[in-house]
Amino acid sequence: MLHIKDSVAVITGGASGIGLSLAGYWLKNGGKVVLGDAAEEALNKAKETLDGPVETVPCNVTREEDCGRLADAAIDAFGQINLVAPFAGIIADGLMVSTDRESGRVRRKMPLDQFQKVVDINLTGVFLTVRECAERMINHHCKGLICLVSSTGSLGTAGQINYSSTKAAMSVMPKVITAEFFRRGLSGQIRCVAVAPGYVGTPILLGMDQQALDKILDQVPIGRLIEPEEVASLVGELYRNEALTGDVFYIHGGLRLGSRG
Ligand SMILES: NC(=O)c1ccc[n+]([C@@H]2O[C@H](COP(=O)([O-])OP(=O)(O)OC[C@H]3O[C@@H](n4cnc5c(N)ncnc54)[C@H](O)[C@@H]3O)[C@@H](O)[C@H]2O)c1
Repeated sequence: MLHIKDSVAVITGGASGIGLSLAGYWLKNGGKVVLGDAAEEALNKAKETLDGPVETVPCNVTREEDCGRLADAAIDAFGQINLVAPFAGIIADGLMVSTDRESGRVRRKMPLDQFQKVVDINLTGVFLTVRECAERMINHHCKGLICLVSSTGSLGTAGQINYSSTKAAMSVMPKVITAEFFRRGLSGQIRCVAVAPGYVGTPILLGMDQQALDKILDQVPIGRLIEPEEVASLVGELYRNEALTGDVFYIHGGLRLGSRG
């Protein structure tokens, strides 16, 4: 078992939602955190509200040099990295092609930049964060966990061709990384998993069609959104339990288990 006390978590998207909640959980359990986020003001506010050893690094995860600076900041401040939680993410929902109800003809196509900006942050940004942190973990002989964030959207959600595709990638990355580390004798030192939440009560949901969200919530067996603290607690358990690697762990309150009938 690993212990959170004195361990160092690097969290992107750390200024809000699940990332911020994980930071609070880590500190409460005696850990140290390095928060990276593109929203500088929110990052400063997060530092004020958190209690314990916290470093903040303004960074855009789509930029290689920013991810390198983030990983270096953790080593400079605390000498190690034990948890990598690349949680920065966005949604930009829309249908791939929308048809006019009357004519049946296509009236709108998802613009390329609406697709690509989600891929840049949710997929390429994760690759860069993980690659830079893994390099430092290996070179500094750190033990720990890379914990990605997938989603129930990885199973396919209408209106989210961009988001769902990136989250499906998060489901396969733990397998690739675990297999690669195994080949190099590193898989006992650095494990990799993903958490896959359903609908969590954070600001990202404000970007969703609220009527569609209400309909979805009506079908969630626990009858409510998941709390960000519940996801943070799952990440903590995945960190502690060294038998867990290479897999995806769902946390969704029973979502997609059918309708009330
Ligand atoms: N909330 C949910 O229902 C839910 C469900 C499943 C998965 N997730 C995933 O969890 C992660 C966190 O989501 P959340 O709900 O906490 O959202 P959130 O909007 O509260 O937080 C996301 C954070 O990412 C930051 N960010 C965005 N683009 C960035 C960039 N280019 N570089 C650095 N930081 C950037 C934002 O500034 C923000 O602080 C995301 O990857 C999301 O896809 C969320």
